[in-house]
Amino acid sequence: MSLFRKKNVEHMIAGANRTGLRKTLGALDLTLLGVGAIIGTGIFVLTGTGAVQAGPALTISFLIAAIACGFAALAYAEFASTIPVAGSIYTYSYATLGELAAWVIGWDLMLEYGLATSAVSVGWSGYLQSLLAGFGVSLPTMLTAAPGALPGHQTLFNLPAFLVMMAVTALLSVGVRESTRINNFMVAVKVSVVLLVIAVGVFHVKPGNWQPFMPNGWHGVFGAAAVMFFAFIGFDSVSAAAEEVKNPKRDLPIGLIASLAVCAVLYVTVAAVVTGIVPSAQFAHISHPVSYALQVAGQPWVAGFIDLGAVLGMLTVILVMGYGQTRIIFAMSRDGLLPAALSRVHPRFATPFLTTWIVGIFFGLIGALVPLNVLAELINIGTLAAFSMVSVAVLILRRTHPDLPRAFRCPGVPVVPVLAVASCLFLMLNLQRVTWIAFVAWLLLGMAIYFGYSRHRSKLGQGIQVH
Ligand code: ALA
Repeated sequence: MSLFRKKNVEHMIAGANRTGLRKTLGALDLTLLGVGAIIGTGIFVLTGTGAVQAGPALTISFLIAAIACGFAALAYAEFASTIPVAGSIYTYSYATLGELAAWVIGWDLMLEYGLATSAVSVGWSGYLQSLLAGFGVSLPTMLTAAPGALPGHQTLFNLPAFLVMMAVTALLSVGVRESTRINNFMVAVKVSVVLLVIAVGVFHVKPGNWQPFMPNGWHGVFGAAAVMFFAFIGFDSVSAAAEEVKNPKRDLPIGLIASLAVCAVLYVTVAAVVTGIVPSAQFAHISHPVSYALQVAGQPWVAGFIDLGAVLGMLTVILVMGYGQTRIIFAMSRDGLLPAALSRVHPRFATPFLTTWIVGIFFGLIGALVPLNVLAELINIGTLAAFSMVSVAVLILRRTHPDLPRAFRCPGVPVVPVLAVASCLFLMLNLQRVTWIAFVAWLLLGMAIYFGYSRHRSKLGQGIQVH
């Protein structure tokens, strides 16, 4: 039974009201927070791979991914508005599904946030190189990408990706968090860049490029949807701000769903525009497909602005994901599931300094050595698994705690959470076999650590309530 031991929900809610964080965020702030975390490598880089796979029907792939996220977001929103505690779904599941499931979700989230920083650093590197090329500067090919990432070229190490991770790690380790003001500025930059692509690009669309619409059939469309799901990851960071929201019960669900909707509209439009400018197959191995489309359109200046905006905008995604990653490890360590050293706080900087550097160097090396597509698939499978579990958790919480006040109730229960699980599983099934093998290996490693270590060290197991 100890596998199912749970934190006390009422206790957590009371604790959340006591932590003393200032409650300053409203629905608009949350929407901006979400959009800031969402727009990044997915739209700027993976659009190229997606276009090769799905053709111009990439627009449909984006829609499918958005719908799957929408179902999951509704479940998320119910959770987030019921238990406004920082720490994301790891914490929520500890109170509802029990310790083992919380461990699995936390372990999954490490894959999501950790590898996402690696993946976005690779995307950042592609745009930085495109920007530098505009000034006639290029790096030695060996240092531009991970081994095997550029067929026909010998590449060894993605140096810009590694360096940007070190820079962000240094910022996080001394306590630099993205302030709301910087986030809002970055959102303005990213949304302007995306709108610029649409506004200029639309005049260079040749409708002939939209034929054939689905060169690889539905198989290609679904496969691309499973990869492009990556582009929406980050909306969950809205729920992590729960403790600082003025009126979480109303604002959280609005923030989650609005940020998802805004990005879905932008993505579908960008996909239509870039596949209308460049024949889809030409995007193979292009590491900066969105600015590339504008270069093909004969707009080098606009392409330069896009490179600059993407380089700036992607920095914030790395920062937000890196922050999320260290805080999940922090929470798991505080609960006794990971070694106590990982939640030690630096006396001067008041950050989990050691953890920040360990994960920064580790995921920095992964970004430098593993190609982006492999990373994106792994992140997606981890995240989709976690989202499925959250949707199941909503159903469980309705049974175990039917009277808990919920300002936002997921509509159409049980149908919507069931659809969320079904659509996440569907996307997971469209990922490659090698991704599944790596994911199962990651889960088995997690199980070994849980049964060999965490289960015996758990604070909850020792009767200590941590919230
Ligand atoms: N959605 C984020 C991005 O595309 C992870 O970079």
